[in-house]
Amino acid sequence: MTEQLKKIKKQLKKELEKDRYQHTLGVMYTASCLAMRYEGDIQQAMLAGLLHDCAKGVPGDRQIHLCKKNRIPIRTVERENPSLLHAKLGAYLAKTEYGVKNAEVLHAIAVHTTGAPQMGLLDKILFVADYIEPNRDKAANLAQVRKMAFENLDQAVFQILHDTMHYLNQKRGAIDPVTDETYQYYRQQLR
Ligand SMILES: [Fe+2]
Ligand SMILES: [Fe+2]
Repeated sequence: MTEQLKKIKKQLKKELEKDRYQHTLGVMYTASCLAMRYEGDIQQAMLAGLLHDCAKGVPGDRQIHLCKKNRIPIRTVERENPSLLHAKLGAYLAKTEYGVKNAEVLHAIAVHTTGAPQMGLLDKILFVADYIEPNRDKAANLAQVRKMAFENLDQAVFQILHDTMHYLNQKRGAIDPVTDETYQYYRQQLR
């Protein structure tokens, strides 16, 4: 583990709730395994995994305040569901508070909740690792998606989007239009 990772890990241990911190470590190591499998940059995958939820502990109204203050645009769905903001705000904090300069790492953090059409390798690795890391136990088809993640990354991305949309539809949760757009994109791709 690089010095940068060690330092950030220490800082996050203080700032995140215990379960969130454990999840963060799970995502970091799962992302590194996926980077090994798909020949991505292992250190970048670990960095993205470690920091992806760094804004999660910030209360909703404060997230809105910080976004406004730093001119991060807030969409309607995000104003109504501030928890969606932690990805964008997390990328901002990763850059300003944790000194991350790598654009791919910052982008992966920014799109980790909704995904995005035409994701890069690191985006997909983080998106999938967040869903399958070992501490997760509630999602549908988890065993199947975990296996798929190491066989066909795009297929795993699609399956996660599919299951997430289904879950949100069932509980009448807000669906971010970007999630829907990403779902349609990968559905088209895999035809
Ligand atoms: Fe998150
Ligand atoms: Fe997460």
